[in-house]
Amino acid sequence: MDTYFVTGGKPLFGSVPIHGSKNSVLPILAATILARGESVIHNCPALSDVFVTAEILECLGCRVQWHSGTMTVDATQLTGGQIPDVLMQEMRSSVLFLGPLLARLGSAEMCCPGGCALGPRPIDLHVRALQRLGATVNEEGGRLRCTTRRLHGRRILLDIPSVGATENIMLAACGAQGNTIISNAAREPEIVDLQGFLRSMGARIWGAGGSTIYIEGGQTLHAGEYTVMSDRIVAATYLCALASAKGEAEFTCADVRTVAPVITSLIEAGCTIRSAAEGRIWIRSREPLKAIRPIYTAPYPGFPTDAQPVLMAALAGGIGKTTFVETIFSNRYSHAEGLYRMGADISIRQRTAEINGNPFLHGAEMEAHDLRGGAALVVAALGAQGESRITGLHYIDRGYENFEGDLSALGAQIVRVKESVETQMGANTQEPVVAVCAAGGQ
Ligand code: EPZ
Repeated sequence: MDTYFVTGGKPLFGSVPIHGSKNSVLPILAATILARGESVIHNCPALSDVFVTAEILECLGCRVQWHSGTMTVDATQLTGGQIPDVLMQEMRSSVLFLGPLLARLGSAEMCCPGGCALGPRPIDLHVRALQRLGATVNEEGGRLRCTTRRLHGRRILLDIPSVGATENIMLAACGAQGNTIISNAAREPEIVDLQGFLRSMGARIWGAGGSTIYIEGGQTLHAGEYTVMSDRIVAATYLCALASAKGEAEFTCADVRTVAPVITSLIEAGCTIRSAAEGRIWIRSREPLKAIRPIYTAPYPGFPTDAQPVLMAALAGGIGKTTFVETIFSNRYSHAEGLYRMGADISIRQRTAEINGNPFLHGAEMEAHDLRGGAALVVAALGAQGESRITGLHYIDRGYENFEGDLSALGAQIVRVKESVETQMGANTQEPVVAVCAAGGQ
């Protein structure tokens, strides 16, 4: 496994761009199979989750090309069928292929996406909604087999504003006969981006960003072209890294509106933050971060659960007591183990974490257990005295295009030591691997 060596205590200075959004591009790539032709996706981040999705598209018969930030997907020859288990298990969001496969081909087969470090990740809302739209879903032996003669538009009320379920319904409804109305839909900016891409394909869809989304089915879609939004969680991570390490930096290609709750918290903690035109966010942090009002994670536009670990890591090196309540996932404090090793004072009871800031955190050996928890360990290490060693970087590579490169550009002392080549031959590489398709019998 690759390892980060971070020497903390050094303020950061400089300017870094924010790359395209993982959580926007993944559903958009799934949407490309709704139509024949070659779709073009700009500002596509170079992330392992994106390359896994490209492998899935190739296994389904698509031709995928990648060239410096633009991915093209030709879904003309979509053969569909079964998504290889090894790819399904690598990435939960592969479940987003259910809707478009049913819409385009009338069938989809995959293994149930596993739970992950965040706790159980059920897909009952996805399944119930697809059944309501006219799909037959058989779940046996951990596999989902879905078929439909024809999807029909329906009114669908979600019990909770699930991001993935909202996206799956949008994708399926585009291939349904008749109109669909989604109530209690997720309002995340990534949903608005998916609507934008679907519109570029000729879909008639309104309301994304609000709680009710309208899809007029029966449209013949064509390949689309779209530029993916900036990644708001990467922006939140980098702002927290600067707040933790101290210094002054500017982040470009950012969308300040989508990180507003995190900016509010960092200003309350004592940072100076200004946003300028054309997506620039400037931050300065000089003093130890102060305690802030309790943070309750919530669906958008509330405080994003994905930013909870990195804000906690920054505040762990500050002063005073802050409470976090994680309302979305049942097990999203895996980063606390590493922060403890650095001398952090954190007490956790079920979904509540109390942080007593310690401005004298020290370097430690730590392991990432999930994507944002791994980023949080780096955020804390940058503000700690001494050297930290962090493993489990494959989690971080899922959501950050060039984490060590961007932080180094701000002056951070962070080095990635790659595992020796011979032992890495079997590890995940970031290049699409066709071999899996053969294994999957495509
Ligand atoms: C998306 O996951 C994001 N992933 C997550 O980001 C993010 O944390 C999450 O939304 C919440 O904002 C992508 O977009 C690829 P949900 P998703 O369905 O769609 C429960 C990251 O770090 N639920 O909104 O899986 C679920 O267990 C990742 O980038 C059901 O009960 O999240 C959770 O408690 C992590 N049944 C809550 O809803 C279902 O059928 C919210 O989940 C579906 C979800």
